[in-house]
Amino acid sequence: MQLKVTIVGAGYVGLVSAACFAHLGTSVTCVDRDRSRIDRLEQGESPIFEEGLDELILEGQQRGLLHFSTDLAAKVADADLIFIAVGTPSSKGDGYPDMAQVEAVARAIAPVLSGYTVLVTKSTVPAGTGRWLETLLRELRPDADVDVASNPEFLREGCAIRDFLEPDRVVLGADNERARDHLQALYRPLADRAVPVVMTTRETAELIKYAGNAFLATKITFINEMADLCEKFDADVEVLARGIGLDRRIGPLFLKAGPGYGGSCFPKDTRGLITIAERAGAPTRLVEAVNSINEDRKASMAERIRGLLGGSLEGITLAVLGVTFKAGTDDMREAPSLDILPRLQAAGAAIQAYDPAGMEHAENLLPGVSWHEDAYDAATGADALVILTEWSQFKALDLLRMRETLGQPMVIDLRNLYEPQVMRDAGFVYHSVGRGS
Ligand code: UGA
Repeated sequence: MQLKVTIVGAGYVGLVSAACFAHLGTSVTCVDRDRSRIDRLEQGESPIFEEGLDELILEGQQRGLLHFSTDLAAKVADADLIFIAVGTPSSKGDGYPDMAQVEAVARAIAPVLSGYTVLVTKSTVPAGTGRWLETLLRELRPDADVDVASNPEFLREGCAIRDFLEPDRVVLGADNERARDHLQALYRPLADRAVPVVMTTRETAELIKYAGNAFLATKITFINEMADLCEKFDADVEVLARGIGLDRRIGPLFLKAGPGYGGSCFPKDTRGLITIAERAGAPTRLVEAVNSINEDRKASMAERIRGLLGGSLEGITLAVLGVTFKAGTDDMREAPSLDILPRLQAAGAAIQAYDPAGMEHAENLLPGVSWHEDAYDAATGADALVILTEWSQFKALDLLRMRETLGQPMVIDLRNLYEPQVMRDAGFVYHSVGRGS
């Protein structure tokens, strides 16, 4: 079956999916209402920072398989599958996902549907969305031959292309045979490479996405609490994580203690799941706890830094390495730095910061911070170096040069990038997370 795909939304998920489907040999048009974004894409320039994406977009265009457009109506009629990859931000107030953009897409495509079409949600949507969209489409176009399916994404920023092309699994939720056949045909290239495909109902697929993110957020929060406990006993959380992670029932990944999780997904999706579950009458108390522990953690990181500098930050200059929510991205959404740095400033600290990719986005979000061209420039004369993200260049600092650049040789490493003994031998007063004093 030679399928034609239209993807609505040239944001992170939409673009990566479009470029990857084209790479797998499908003809794809990615549609967005933002003219300047589409213009840039047509020139072969990606509007987002993602390793390998520019090359893949170019490849798709050169093979004639990847197209961009602002005209959604024109790209509906001949599509076999239409993916919704627009935002579902937290609604103001209770965190329930705001479905306005998803609904707008359904309303825009309804009048122009023609032939058999599967509308697929790739955006993270509450359980029941597929059913609701189907009812809406049947109301708007009783004559249309359309099914609604769910295909959640599990892409991590920074390795989204690999996550798409070599996923741990593909999840497909559809309630009838024809929709299932279309989705299976689309994903055949991956299934042929032995990628497991979980074929299920729409509701289960929709919930898998939230459950996956909530579980990962729980794992991180668990290890962060264990890190606090390790500090009380002079134990080592890195070894503890290895000690539990080798148990295959637990697994070694996502057990890295740090300043708390951030990003566009875990905070939003845990809050989303909490409200979805509350409204459904089955509250997720564990996820509620995870969410509030993670919020508290950012404040406690600022407190920790203040404590390590003697209790007062008046007149103190801190050098900060990394402000995005993790390494490998320029994304500032719900980055721990957005909470931690203003607290440090409010306590009197001056901040000199460097980030390999995020400074342009961070500038407006973190007023009063001075930005520097590299780690050493940021460290010049500072009373302590605070490491907030795990870029590989931060793991490979020239320690001698850094010690001479800092005003005081103190390093507060909130990502455990260094061995404590190595740092002490290099002449630093070194503090990390969950590894004793
Ligand atoms: C996350 C999920 O990992 C993806 O599977 C999912 O598709 C995506 O959300 C989404 O829902 O779209 P992402 O937000 O890009 O991906 O980032 P992660 O690499 O998962 O990191 C999230 C946060 O957790 C970061 O702040 C990171 O620093 C933190 N983290 C992660 C830890 O503190 N410790 C860890 O062991 C792992």
